Amino acid sequence: MTISDSVLARAAELRALLHRYGHEYYVLDAPTVPDAEYDRLFRELEAIELAHPELKAADSPTQRVGGQPLPQFEPVRHAVPMLSIRTETDVSAAGALAFDASVRKELALGDGDAPVDYVAELKFDGLAISLRYEAGVLVRAATRGDGMTGEDVTQNIRTIGQIPLRLHGDAPPLLEVRGEVYMRRDDFDAMNEKQEAAGAKTFVNPRNAAAGAVRQLDPAIAAMRPLSFFAYGVGEVDGWQPAAHSDLLDALQGFGLPVCAERVRTRGGAGLVAFHDRVAALRADLPFDIDGVVYKVDSLALQQELGFRSREPRWAVAHKFPAQEALTTVEAIDVQVGRTGAITPVARLVPVFVGGVTVTNATLHNEDEVRRKDVRVGDTVIVRRAGDVIPEVVGVVQAERPMVERPGADMFDTVREPKYAPFELPKACPVCGSHVVREEGEAIARCSGGLFCSAQRKEAIRHFAGRRMMDIDGLGERYIDNLVDLDYVHGVADLYRLTLADMLEMKRRADERDSVVPETVKAGQIASKWAENLIAGIAASKRPPLARLLFALGIRHVGESTAKTLADWFGDLALIRKAPAPLLRVLPDVGATVADSIADFFAEPKNQQALDALLGAGVAAADTHPPSAEWRDRLAVAELYAVLGVPKLTPLRARQLAEVAPTPAVLAAAGVASLGGLPADVLASLQAWLAVDGRRAMLNELDAQREVLLASLPAQAEAAGVLAGKTLVLTGTLQTLSRDQAQALIEAAGGKVSGSVSKKTDYVVAGDAAGSKLAKAASLGVAVLDEAGLRALLAG
Ligand code: IVH
Repeated sequence: MTISDSVLARAAELRALLHRYGHEYYVLDAPTVPDAEYDRLFRELEAIELAHPELKAADSPTQRVGGQPLPQFEPVRHAVPMLSIRTETDVSAAGALAFDASVRKELALGDGDAPVDYVAELKFDGLAISLRYEAGVLVRAATRGDGMTGEDVTQNIRTIGQIPLRLHGDAPPLLEVRGEVYMRRDDFDAMNEKQEAAGAKTFVNPRNAAAGAVRQLDPAIAAMRPLSFFAYGVGEVDGWQPAAHSDLLDALQGFGLPVCAERVRTRGGAGLVAFHDRVAALRADLPFDIDGVVYKVDSLALQQELGFRSREPRWAVAHKFPAQEALTTVEAIDVQVGRTGAITPVARLVPVFVGGVTVTNATLHNEDEVRRKDVRVGDTVIVRRAGDVIPEVVGVVQAERPMVERPGADMFDTVREPKYAPFELPKACPVCGSHVVREEGEAIARCSGGLFCSAQRKEAIRHFAGRRMMDIDGLGERYIDNLVDLDYVHGVADLYRLTLADMLEMKRRADERDSVVPETVKAGQIASKWAENLIAGIAASKRPPLARLLFALGIRHVGESTAKTLADWFGDLALIRKAPAPLLRVLPDVGATVADSIADFFAEPKNQQALDALLGAGVAAADTHPPSAEWRDRLAVAELYAVLGVPKLTPLRARQLAEVAPTPAVLAAAGVASLGGLPADVLASLQAWLAVDGRRAMLNELDAQREVLLASLPAQAEAAGVLAGKTLVLTGTLQTLSRDQAQALIEAAGGKVSGSVSKKTDYVVAGDAAGSKLAKAASLGVAVLDEAGLRALLAG
């Protein structure tokens, strides 16, 4: 089949558009079209390429995902070795001056000579990568390896949206771009949240996560890891000779590559010191981890003159920051009770200045951590505070442990032993006295008191009021403590009923309890501005976006990203609070643990009451909307059956089950004997599953909620493709297309795929070993096509 000019032109146009939108989205962080528009164009291109595989090119946006898992990576020899740079040993600002001095000495510059121009950059904490572009097209990506030979990780690198598959503008015929693949901290947190929810392993830090993703043999898994990239140099280049490193970076940016904006071209050692100081202050606020800064001589001619010493350039140096660790002493080990009752051991410390603040407490995470590190009262410990994370105890200086001597077995013998015993978790909650329980396989011990425990109530309110949740201005820790301790607030809904009189009375009682007499009271006045502000702050929080309201509820395993998914898909709290677990389970990135946790939360009458109270107090999501049209695909009964958690009910069996029990209600009512066509062991498993109390009721509920969702979906946009309004049935095995691919092609062309042949069927597409559907088509006089016929139809 020859490709018509119009198809060729459309494919080229789609590619260009998708490249542009992708660059705007990933690199510039400034999308100009909605995601749905991008997706629509992407699917259109995908369909064209499926129909005309010869059109697929290495730089097509569709080539970002896909590819088979590799048995191993192929070695790649670097034409220009990937070297490392020397690290300046002096971490103070003076280190920058030392580098400038060494450069000047090498260049034989005297005091009277002009200062050297430098580029100062961040030192990204990720994995070095070399990207090879030939004629502007990304043809290979390799890791650094030992500097001479790396590994071919092209498939994985293609999945990084920020990396252009084709360079913009007038790129040289050969260009190897060197840079760092890294993971942003927010992406890292969201990814770990998802991993945890899915019961999968979490990553220690963004660097490890990024390195693991790049060296992941299955590109489909790599594609799910949110990676980013910064270019900082070049390797082999043909047909291009910039004069300075700063020009080179600007040009790379012009080619569409991400180059970190946090870079300067500066003069002399003083300029480097200024950059070092500025970045040290900025560091914690950067959205990604850095390892320090890098200084490079700007002029490439001078770089050449300076050359290398033992495989390290003399023209560049890495300069780190002072450690964010310090030594101090443990005064006591207390435990704190969190929102979900989690009991966290906390070290009370002799105050110490570290990472820019004075630290007095540091988390010890959990019981096993304290045991592993063997932290005891009196110990000298290393405390670490990186960025804005909670300070933690890294380890104990064993040699400094306070010891005592006591008489041993006989009168001449003494035994030296630690003065303080190992830490033990209390058996009862220090706040409410309830049992502390630690479940099998759980690292965290919890207070079993639930909302009876005032510590948990306070934390629940604190979470609810938080900045990323309901964002209640002014509701600080002290007010929450008093409101709960003095019994003004039991649940979050009570906040919205507080009056000015309540606030003032609470304050008066708290002052009395603490034996304080405020200045205003001494002066015979009552300060009330704070209370008015607080009440205004509470009132102003009544109309949050749905995602924040959901996050604020404090459902276990529901973090910001899951809350957003729920809000986007359901659009309405009323639907979410009734959704049975299987409906939740089919959402992207929602695993069984998360789905069950959400369904369990709403199954608890106390939570439903608390929610009603909240709505009754006038709280409502501001952005309620109809459910996402994307539901249509996920509401297929077979999809829902496949996530019921019935042992042996594989996706294939679930599809077969959907043929005999076309709705969950039918399944709920079914005697298993009536479910013919499934193997006996699957039927037995299903029977056992259905026999458990509540399961049939859940299926009926699932049926009802599925219907509600289907009925509230926005009407499907009229498809304009060549198969608009046509219904096709697929049967048998097609020559080259999988069933899913064929379905995707048909749907992209506006057609519908149905599971059974009827008079309404327009075409039956039959492959090898087609069965009864083919016979039925013949009997009804429905047109039958083979794969070639389908392709012809799609090509219009
Ligand atoms: S330049 C010949 N610039 O640090 C000089 N490296 O030891 C090549 N790195 O693993 C390196 N940020 O991946 C350079 N702005 C930056 C960098 C940077 C991070 C990494 C690099 C390599 C190590 C250099």
